[in-house]
Amino acid sequence: MLKIEQLQISYETFVLDLEEIEFPQGMNVILGPNGGGKSSLMKGVIGYGHEGLDRRKIQFGGHPLGKVEGVISYLPQENPRFRIRVGEYLTMTSGSVPERVLDEAVRHFELEPLLGQSIENLSGGEFKRVQCAQVALENKPVIMVDEMEQGLDMNYQHGMMKWLGSEAEGKVVVASMHDAALAMTYADTITLIKDGRAQGPMPSAAVTAEMLSGCYGLPLTVRRQEGVVLVYHNRL
Ligand SMILES: Nc1ncnc2c1ncn2[C@@H]1O[C@H](COP(=O)(O)OP(=O)(O)OP(=O)(O)O)[C@@H](O)[C@H]1O
Ligand SMILES: [Mg+2]
Repeated sequence: MLKIEQLQISYETFVLDLEEIEFPQGMNVILGPNGGGKSSLMKGVIGYGHEGLDRRKIQFGGHPLGKVEGVISYLPQENPRFRIRVGEYLTMTSGSVPERVLDEAVRHFELEPLLGQSIENLSGGEFKRVQCAQVALENKPVIMVDEMEQGLDMNYQHGMMKWLGSEAEGKVVVASMHDAALAMTYADTITLIKDGRAQGPMPSAAVTAEMLSGCYGLPLTVRRQEGVVLVYHNRL
């Protein structure tokens, strides 16, 4: 379990104020409007850009994060690109994993045709798949990904959610997303973040149209059928 006992971040015009948030093992998705605080939550947990932040009240497995460094794989919303071939990049970032495991990740994320290409020249979605492989190879007990579904086509979006779901069988996955339907179809828990405050995590099945409508300030309908969640804007 990843527990945020308390996390406060103050910018000039925005305050993130979180208390008693417990992300259990499984797939935990954070939803919420632009500027709500999703990325700030992740950066605060990682300490990224907030090096002076007191992270003693953020714990993994009952220990403060400062004492268990290296337990989180984190993919920020925006990632810098480097002029390095995909194959070299994966070898470099995967450390000492056996070649068999590296090959399996390359196969799983369909990266064979891209191995000789420069990271700089990949399409947005291709780069995301390389990043997914990197996270898979890091094999850490917590995975935090910020808007990973952006830029992926429908096929790879579902593939990515299924992969995160399989990782979540033994790990704590926290993913921020904008596609509420995709999120609620695959997630174990949903957390809504708006104006720096959180509601949840709650079981995906407990999220109502009223909650989502309030969060986004839009009249929304939620339908659940045949294992799929549909979320749509009510007709005006
Ligand atoms: N380093 C910073 N300095 C000042 N303000 C910041 C900083 N980082 C974020 N903010 C502000 O904090 C608020 C929350 O930003 P955050 O990036 O956490 O939102 P978000 O929920 O991830 O939004 P999005 O869906 O657009 O990615 C925004 O109003 C943003 O302008
Ligand atoms: Mg963000």
